[in-house]
Amino acid sequence: MSTSAPSIRHYLQFSDFTADEYAYLFERAAIIKRKFKAYEKHQPLVDRTLAMIFEKASTRTRVSFEAGMYQLGGSVVHLTTGDSQLGRAEPIEDSAKVISRMVDLVMIRTFEQTKIESFAAHSRVPVINGLTNEFHPCQIVADIFTYIEHRGSIKGKTVAWVGDGNNMANTWLQAAEILGFTVHVSTPSGYEVDQDVAGIRSSDSYKVFKDPMEACRGADLVTTDVWTSMGYEAENEARRKAFADWCVDEEMMRAAKPDALFMHCLPAHRGEEVQAEVIDGPQSVVWDEAENRMHAQKALMEFLLLGRL
Ligand code: CP
Ligand code: NVA
Repeated sequence: MSTSAPSIRHYLQFSDFTADEYAYLFERAAIIKRKFKAYEKHQPLVDRTLAMIFEKASTRTRVSFEAGMYQLGGSVVHLTTGDSQLGRAEPIEDSAKVISRMVDLVMIRTFEQTKIESFAAHSRVPVINGLTNEFHPCQIVADIFTYIEHRGSIKGKTVAWVGDGNNMANTWLQAAEILGFTVHVSTPSGYEVDQDVAGIRSSDSYKVFKDPMEACRGADLVTTDVWTSMGYEAENEARRKAFADWCVDEEMMRAAKPDALFMHCLPAHRGEEVQAEVIDGPQSVVWDEAENRMHAQKALMEFLLLGRL
């Protein structure tokens, strides 16, 4: 008889799941969302606890995980750097060993990807990436779920990324490789995506454009993000200058397909990375995107703890 512990799955980057697993997750998210809208109870995680560790600010990630876990029948513990021993230099490995003896699931928002990887390596329970400097996989799961709801499969489609070569851009690149679509990337010089940091095998699923307008041409989805991500605030002024031409405006949306969607993970800065007319306009699905964080993450937590049902 084997004495080894049952294997656990972590969700640290988009490439941790296969296309087939994503197809399952999107189906589950749709079922879970329908039940939520019908006020029908869906509580497969009664008595389970999620620890949420935030080393950076959050609105959507906190509310979606916290409300989602309660709706699934479980409960949450909320920790930040400031109110836990993480802020007083307790090693991440020790924190992982302790926290994972008391809860069933951990979500972390932190700085370097290596930090969440160290935590996961010492955790007895699944660990979910709630955003790192390098990746934001939960956001892209919600974004693609939102795309599917509005337009059907994303396979073979073109996503235009306008802006910083950041955690969101890297995660879109991973998603394109796994789910079979193309990303048109346009960033100012000095802020390009890096294939190694993005953790993708080849450059087959993305194309780089100097001009953001060209990146948007013929796209099915146009998306962007803040010019300055959390942790990079010292670069704010330099970025403001460098990114001035990377504001998604109505002209860029006109270059995209007539039925193109606009997405933004939020929080947004109108007049910087996106014009108010675009984010508040008819092609924008940003509020669905934000809501879908919760439905998609409920499916994710259910999958990590219970597998396929
Ligand atoms: N999009 C997103 O992750 O939002 P928060 O930073 O508010 O969690
Ligand atoms: N790229 C942004 C996303 C915020 C949800 C950041 O890391 O701050």
